[in-house]
Amino acid sequence: MQVIRDFKTLKSEIAGARRDGKSVGFVPTMGFLHEGHLSLLREAVRQTEYVVLSIFVNPLQFGVGEDYEEYPRDLEQDRKKAEEAGCDLIFYPEVKSMYPRGYLTYVNTEGISEPLCGGSRPGHFRGVTTVVTKLFNLVTPDKAFFGQKDAQQALIIRKMVADLNMNLEIVVCPTIREDDGLAMSSRNAYLEPGERKAAAILYRTLKKARDMVLSGEKDARVVRDFMVDSIGKEPRANIQYIEVVDSETLQPLEEIETSALLALAVKFGETRLIDNILVEV
Ligand code: PAJ
Repeated sequence: MQVIRDFKTLKSEIAGARRDGKSVGFVPTMGFLHEGHLSLLREAVRQTEYVVLSIFVNPLQFGVGEDYEEYPRDLEQDRKKAEEAGCDLIFYPEVKSMYPRGYLTYVNTEGISEPLCGGSRPGHFRGVTTVVTKLFNLVTPDKAFFGQKDAQQALIIRKMVADLNMNLEIVVCPTIREDDGLAMSSRNAYLEPGERKAAAILYRTLKKARDMVLSGEKDARVVRDFMVDSIGKEPRANIQYIEVVDSETLQPLEEIETSALLALAVKFGETRLIDNILVEV
C-alpha cells in the first residue's frame, strides 16, 4: 500500500489500475481511522478492485472557533489500519496543494444544506461539497463510500452527484457503534470519561423514539418532544438540535407517514456529537 501526497503520482497510479482493467473504489476521510471508517473501506474492497482512501483534514469545512487545529491526526496508525483493511493507496494531500493561493471556486448544494447541521455550522457543507468534488476529480472513482452516521452529508453528496452529472455511484453504509451504542467518531477521543459515559443517552433515546414510531406514534412533535425531554435530563448534554424530518428533503415533518429521519446534534463539554436513525414505518 502506498501513501501519496502529490497529484501527478496519484493520477499515474490510478491510470495503472485502470490499464489493468480494475474498478476504482474511493473512501474520503479526515483520518484518525476507527471502525466506522474501516467498515467503509471493507465495503469498498468487497465492491471494487482498487481502493483509494483519502486523509485530508479539510480547513474549508471548519468554521471560526471550531476544532480544525485540534482535530486528531495519526498517519502511522491510519496507515496500519488501512493496509489491514485491504486499501491499495492512501491519498494524503497537502492543504497548500488543495487550496493554493488564489483559489476561488466553490461547490454548493442549496436547500438541503441549510437545515440540521447547516443551521449550527454555516458554510460547513459548502466546504464538504467543494473538497469532495475536488477529490472525485483527482481520484476519478467508479464508486465512493459514505457513512449513514453523517446522514445529511450523504444526502447532499448524492444530490450533488446527480445534479452535476458526476460519473460515479455513491454507496451509503450503516453507522458503526460502540458497545453502548455511541456512534463511532474521531471526535469521541475528545470526551472526558464522564462525558463519554453520558453520551450513550443519544442512541438510547433515538432507539426509544424509533420504537415509538414503530408502535404507531405518527405525531412528529410527540416524538421530538420525547427526545428533547430524554436528552435534556442529562445535565452534561447541551442540545444543538433534535429534529424529526423528511428523509429526502430534511424538512421538519408534522405527521410521520412512511419514513422519518430522527436526527440530532448535542454537545458534551466542547465536543459536538451527531447521530441519527432512519425509521421506515
Ligand atoms: P470523516 O468524519 O473522517 O468521515 C469519513 C467517512 O466515514 C464519512 O462518510 C462518514 O460518514 C463515515 N463515518 C464516520 N463515522 C462513522 C460511523 N460510526 N459509522 C459509519 N461511517 C462512519 O465525513 C468526513 O470525514 C468529511 O466531511 C469528508 C467527507 C471526508 C470531506 O472532508
